[in-house]
Amino acid sequence: MTQLWSADNRVPLFVFGLTTGIALTAAVQYLVTSISGTPLNLRAAADEDRDHRSSSSSSSQQGPVAQRKNVETATQRLERQFTISTAMLHNLVKAFIRDMERGLKRDNAVMKMIPSYVIRRPTGDETGTYLALDLGGSNFRVCECTLAGKGQVRIRQKKFVVSEELKTGTATALFDYFAECVSSTMDGFGLDKQAGTKLGFTFSFPVQQQALNRGTLYHWTKGFTAEGVVGQDVVGLLDAALRRKGLKIDVTALVNDTVGTLISHAYLDTATTMGVILGTGTNAAYVERLENIPKWTGPKCPTNEMIINMEWGAWGQDGIILPTTDYDVKVDRASPNPQKQSYEKMISGLYLGELTRYIIVDLISTGELFAGRRCEALEVQHSFDTANMSRIERDHSMELTDTRSILEDLYAVKKTTLADRRLVKRICELIGTRAARMAAVGIASVVTKTNKLAGTTVAVDGSVFEHYPHFANRMRDALRELLGINAEGIVLAQARDGSGQGAALIAALADHGEEKLQ
Ligand code: GLC
Repeated sequence: MTQLWSADNRVPLFVFGLTTGIALTAAVQYLVTSISGTPLNLRAAADEDRDHRSSSSSSSQQGPVAQRKNVETATQRLERQFTISTAMLHNLVKAFIRDMERGLKRDNAVMKMIPSYVIRRPTGDETGTYLALDLGGSNFRVCECTLAGKGQVRIRQKKFVVSEELKTGTATALFDYFAECVSSTMDGFGLDKQAGTKLGFTFSFPVQQQALNRGTLYHWTKGFTAEGVVGQDVVGLLDAALRRKGLKIDVTALVNDTVGTLISHAYLDTATTMGVILGTGTNAAYVERLENIPKWTGPKCPTNEMIINMEWGAWGQDGIILPTTDYDVKVDRASPNPQKQSYEKMISGLYLGELTRYIIVDLISTGELFAGRRCEALEVQHSFDTANMSRIERDHSMELTDTRSILEDLYAVKKTTLADRRLVKRICELIGTRAARMAAVGIASVVTKTNKLAGTTVAVDGSVFEHYPHFANRMRDALRELLGINAEGIVLAQARDGSGQGAALIAALADHGEEKLQ
């Protein structure tokens, strides 16, 4: 380049040379990230990746990202932001296992890895009749479970809705409502309310267990904010409310839904070592060997194994690892628990529709959807349910007629074009696929860490896994990319209503004096 310099044009040529150099370096860096996606340093990689993903259409960033933006279509831009490559999956698994180990070492880690005090799985021979309560999200179930042995369970149950008012009210109002539901169900089933029946309570929130039937709520998740529960023993709150109602019931087990799902599936299939929920929220429980839980200071247990409630939904809330976009940040900031449950916010049913809604609203504002015509109904928080995404992903008609009826009839969007509908469908596919691939990261990490690559059964419950089209297959694809041939031995088994039954089973194990850790 020096031979080109002259007294007249030295400065312009130098500037030209410098800017070209910067642009080339940036372009090479971009290519390295997008092709390999396997940076040596995870933190640096996450930062680079965030820059690469964070260019929403309204961004005013300059440089290579901004230049590319001019030629990208909305679809290409979203594909770049929401696609999780195989290499990224591998990096995420490494980071996930590291964070599992941190949680097993200390109490205040991001992934809590909570010992559940459940130290054995059922044999299938347990018998007896127990009550089970199940609070998962918007529903509360009261069940009478009769364990008949040989993996057989008979259930009678009643389902109640937990209103927004109760979710966001007080502890007393919430637990009095539960007691009222128990009382009316027992009346309906003709059960003796003074018999001291044993009860298992599935409470699907992060609880630090102090015993099989004692545990304090760390913090609420999934839109609950009721005052007076955080830091309290939830069994104590339930006991007091049952007493206020005049019911004589013995709460013998406090169980997370993931633990319940694992245990109830193990009653049928003893190869089950993991329970996963992919519904309103997401989380998993698995069987860990006691020597791998350095933070466990309780007594030695005869089985040498402990079921761990991972609380994996919290993963990534330290803001380092997850491949989030500007849209994820919007969902997070508007939620009642900002900077918490980051992994859950990329995967579970409470958030997928909301993410999609933010993207649609953004693309309307840039004129890339609906010719830029505002849609007020879509501007309301949480107005776009994840169930709509399921319908749109299931719409294989030429004209995308069901997608049209969702957009035009439910949300009063005026006259959509086929291109609009295709773009909305693509958004759903991208969000749904990313969620499934992220969920696979958690499962692959657990089976790798626990050395279950030769084969195991993972019981999966929850509306997203059960009803969202292609979700299970997309998870299987990602597992294959991560584990190769070993993925064939990982059975993802659909579990249904396992959490209530699981609580009854754990109450039964406690009843027979087998859970010796209390
Ligand atoms: C949330 C809760 C967790 C529960 C999961 C699935 O992540 O914190 O305890 O298991 O939702 O319901």
